[in-house]
Amino acid sequence: MNIILLGPPGAGKGTQAQRLVERHGMRQLSTGDMLRAAVKAGTPVGLRAKAVMERGELVSDAIVSALIGEELDAMPPGQGAIFDGYPRTAAQAEALDVLLEGRGRHLDRVIELEVDEDALVDRITGRFTCATCGKGYHDKFEQPKLPGTCDRCGGHEFKRRPDDNAETVRTRLAEYRAKTAPILPIYEARGIVWRVDGMAPLDAVTAEIERIVGDEAAAERG
Ligand code: AP5
Repeated sequence: MNIILLGPPGAGKGTQAQRLVERHGMRQLSTGDMLRAAVKAGTPVGLRAKAVMERGELVSDAIVSALIGEELDAMPPGQGAIFDGYPRTAAQAEALDVLLEGRGRHLDRVIELEVDEDALVDRITGRFTCATCGKGYHDKFEQPKLPGTCDRCGGHEFKRRPDDNAETVRTRLAEYRAKTAPILPIYEARGIVWRVDGMAPLDAVTAEIERIVGDEAAAERG
């Protein structure tokens, strides 16, 4: 099963993708994570992407689609993919169709997380991740069970993203409205869009997504 999680910055795409990975063994394909890894490693892609990301603008379609293609090639054919933060433009949506078709895959669901934009700055500026395993947390909504210790790997170091400040978030939201929200009709026309209330508590959002993808993903796993 291949699904897109769509929604503005801070809607909960990454959080819910991680939960799908844990429950169904699917692969999270986050172009944001891939680009951050490239920036950290100082690769040519990372060097080109760094300043763009810090401004909250979109990296070029060709770069992110190439990253997705490489990740798909590295996956076992039977493993489901969760596209998190991709596609973000009409050109990326077209590229994804080509990438999937070329690998004998197809898109099953697009899940749109609907959120109130006013809440997003709070969500984004409060979040942090484990520096070792990448598990996400939030100052208000999801603290580690044992303060200062990662629930998943026991790590003690945490980090925050450089683009998680109020000013950059405003640019990221504007980019979403102008370039990403307009791709929804492409998928609506195919009848594969499901909408989820992303303002509900975290576990309620997970339960709703589970209702949408759970049975099918579990059946595929056998
Ligand atoms: P990317 O990393 O994709 O960032 P984003 O889309 O801005 O999304 P976020 O990661 O900020 O939000 P999220 O929806 O995953 O929210 P989360 O689950 O963490 O992209 C970063 C940059 O890379 C872009 O600006 C661009 O420059 C570049 N880029 C990436 N992909 C690209 C592409 N395809 N094309 C071009 N450029 C690209 O949740 C946020 C917080 O809220 C968490 O702390 C969480 O605990 C909390 N939370 C979540 N849900 C709930 C809830 N229901 N209730 C309470 N708290 C909640």
